[in-house]
Amino acid sequence: MINELEKDIDRVLFSEDDIKAMVRKVADEINEDYAGKKPLLVALLKGSVIFASDLMRSLIIDCEIDFMKVSSYSGTQSTGVINIISDIRTEIADRHVIIVEDIVDTGLTLSKLKHQLASRNPASLKICTLLDKPSGRKAAIEADYIGGTVGNEFIVGYGLDYDEKFRNLPYIGVMKNS
Ligand code: IMP
Repeated sequence: MINELEKDIDRVLFSEDDIKAMVRKVADEINEDYAGKKPLLVALLKGSVIFASDLMRSLIIDCEIDFMKVSSYSGTQSTGVINIISDIRTEIADRHVIIVEDIVDTGLTLSKLKHQLASRNPASLKICTLLDKPSGRKAAIEADYIGGTVGNEFIVGYGLDYDEKFRNLPYIGVMKNS
């Protein structure tokens, strides 16, 4: 069968094996830092869902997961407007919270979100991202756990989309004309 997604992909940036290694790296760090602490993973919908599920399966510590939906992008450009569309149901006061993100670009999403969640008095609040795009940064925020770094390209696959397409690519690729 013809792969309907690959005609729009310029090249593979991270293969499935590359991604496994990145997930392993952050999972090892979290396993070590949170031993005995039962953290709550707050996975940001929709982009981080595939990463969060692989990450969770690589954790050997007691942990929980909840989901939050925030909007920030339309097409390939940041709108600069970030809304919390759906909040977590879990009470996070005195909990160790790890925000799980697919990619940090401008950082506007996470800086607003971190501020919001910090006001609920968690015991600790950290950020774990599969990918970091430091060239796009507009807010002074850094992730605590980073799988890998990318340049100023628009990438898709493994949860990352372009207008809702390509999330189901098993690898991460650079889109043509990006
Ligand atoms: P920001 O850090 O507030 O600019 O937004 C981060 C969000 O933008 C991520 O969670 C992604 O959903 C989206 N995003 C940023 N860069 C890319 C990309 O290269 N491909 C797909 N989505 C991206």
